[in-house]
Amino acid sequence: MKILLLYTTHEKQTLKIMQRIKQHLAGKLDCDLIELLPNSHIDLSKYHAALLGCSIRYGFYSKVMKKFIDNNYQKLNSMPSAFFGVNVVARKPNKNTPETNLYTKKFLAKIAWHPKLKAVFAGALYYPQYNWFDRNMIRFIMWLGKGDTDVTKPVIEYTDWSKVDEFAAKFYTETYTSQETSSQKDL
Ligand SMILES: Cc1cc2nc3c(=O)[nH]c(=O)nc-3n(C[C@H](O)[C@H](O)[C@H](O)COP(=O)(O)O)c2cc1C
Repeated sequence: MKILLLYTTHEKQTLKIMQRIKQHLAGKLDCDLIELLPNSHIDLSKYHAALLGCSIRYGFYSKVMKKFIDNNYQKLNSMPSAFFGVNVVARKPNKNTPETNLYTKKFLAKIAWHPKLKAVFAGALYYPQYNWFDRNMIRFIMWLGKGDTDVTKPVIEYTDWSKVDEFAAKFYTETYTSQETSSQKDL
C-alpha cells in the first residue's frame, strides 16, 4: 500500500523535512516522495494515505498546492491525510502550532480539506542564495521581528527536528491504524 508525500518548495527546506519524514517511515511504509509542479498529474487513487507540505513566501502558502487541494479535497477527506506548513515565524514558541500560526490558521480555514494531522515547522534562511530584493526584504522583516539579520551566514536553520520526528511517528500511527482497519474490513 503506497503513501504519497507531496510537497512544493523554493529553497528545498520543505523537501528536507519530507526527506526526514520519509526516512522515519522507511521499512514501514512504501512512500512516493513527489514535488508538486504546476503541470503535475497526481492520481490520488493509487495511494492509501497522503501527506502534503508547503512553505510560505511573502505571507502565502503555495498557490499550486492550494489548487491541488481545491481539486482533490473530497478524495483527501476520504483517506488518512496530513498537512504541514513551513515558515520562519514558526520559530517563535507562541506561533508554532496550526492554531497559533496565522498563515496556517488562515490557509486551513480557506480549504475544504480537513487533514487529520496538522503541523507547522520553522524553516530556514539561506540569505546568500536570495536575490538582492528578497535578501533585503527578508533581512528587514527579520530585523522587525528581532531575528537573525547576518546575511553572510550560508544557512540559518530553525527547524526543530525532534518535532518533525514526533509528527512522522503520529503520521505513521494514523496511517498504520487505518490500514489495519481497512484490511480487517476486507476479511
Ligand atoms: C522571498 C521569501 C519570502 C518569505 N516570506 C515569508 C513570510 O512571509 N513569512 C514567514 O514566516 N517566512 C517567510 N519566508 C521564509 C520561508 O518560509 C522559509 O525560508 C522556508 O524555510 C522556505 O521553505 P522552502 O525552502 O521549502 O520554500 C520567506 C522566505 C523567502 C526567501
